[in-house]
Amino acid sequence: MFDLKGHVAVVTGGNGGIGLAMATGLAKAGARVAVWGRNAEKNAAAIDSLLSLGAEAAAFACDVADETEIVTAMRATLARFGRVDSCFANAGVGRPKAFLEMTTGDWDAVMRVNLVGAFLTMREAIKHMVERGGGGKVVGIASVGSIHGMPRQASYAASKAGLCALIRSLGDPPMNHGNAAGHYFSTVVERAAAVALALALSADLVADPEDG
Ligand SMILES: NC(=O)c1ccc[n+]([C@@H]2O[C@H](COP(=O)([O-])OP(=O)(O)OC[C@H]3O[C@@H](n4cnc5c(N)ncnc54)[C@H](OP(=O)(O)O)[C@@H]3O)[C@@H](O)[C@H]2O)c1
Repeated sequence: MFDLKGHVAVVTGGNGGIGLAMATGLAKAGARVAVWGRNAEKNAAAIDSLLSLGAEAAAFACDVADETEIVTAMRATLARFGRVDSCFANAGVGRPKAFLEMTTGDWDAVMRVNLVGAFLTMREAIKHMVERGGGGKVVGIASVGSIHGMPRQASYAASKAGLCALIRSLGDPPMNHGNAAGHYFSTVVERAAAVALALALSADLVADPEDG
C-alpha cells in the first residue's frame, strides 16, 4: 500500500517493541531505516532482522537522554544515508512508583528520555529537514495516560502530556518554515494508535497484495 523507496526514516528505540515493529513496517515499505538505541546487542539483532527483509538499515548507538549523542547520531545517520525524511521519537521509559515515593531523580530520568529526548531528537531532525527543504515528518509516541493520568506513573503520564503539547506546538497541520523549506508534518500517536500503526506498518497494510 505504501511505497517508501528513497525515504529515510529514523526510529529511536527502534531495536525493540513498538519501535522495531515500526522500523519493520517502514523497511517493508521500502524505506531505508536508521535505528537509534542504547543496547548494542539489541541494535545488532534489529539490523539483522531488517536486513533479512532486504532492507537497507543501520544502527547508531544513541542514548536520547544525552544531547551530544543525539547530535552525533543525527550526523552519523546523515553521513550514512544522506537525508532524513521522517523521524519517529519513540524511545520511552517509565518508573512506576507511588507518588510520595517518587524522587526527583525518578521524575527527571523519565522526563529526560520521554520529553527532553523527544524534543532534542525532533529538533535535530527538523533542523535537517528545514535546511534540506522539501519537508519531512516527525512522530511522537504518547500514551492514553497523557489525557487521563496514570496511578503510580505520574512522571510518565506528565511526560507524555508534555510530548503532546510539544508536537502541537510544532504546528499541525503542516507548518511552513519559510517557503524555501517546504512543509513538514508532525503528529502524536497514543497507545492504541501506536500499536495499530506498528501492526499496520509491519503487517498487512504494507504487504504486497501479490504475495497473498
Ligand atoms: N507498550 C505500550 O503499551 C505503550 C503504551 C503507550 C505508549 N508507549 C510508548 O511507546 C514507545 C515504545 O514503547 P515499547 O512498549 O515498545 O517499549 P519497550 O519495549 O520498553 O522499548 C523501549 C525502547 O526504547 C529504547 N530506549 C529506552 N530508553 C532509551 C534511551 N535513553 N535512549 C535510546 N533508546 C532508549 C529501548 O532501547 P534500549 O534497550 O537500547 O535502551 C527500547 O528499544 C515508548 O515511548 C512508550 O512510552 C508504549
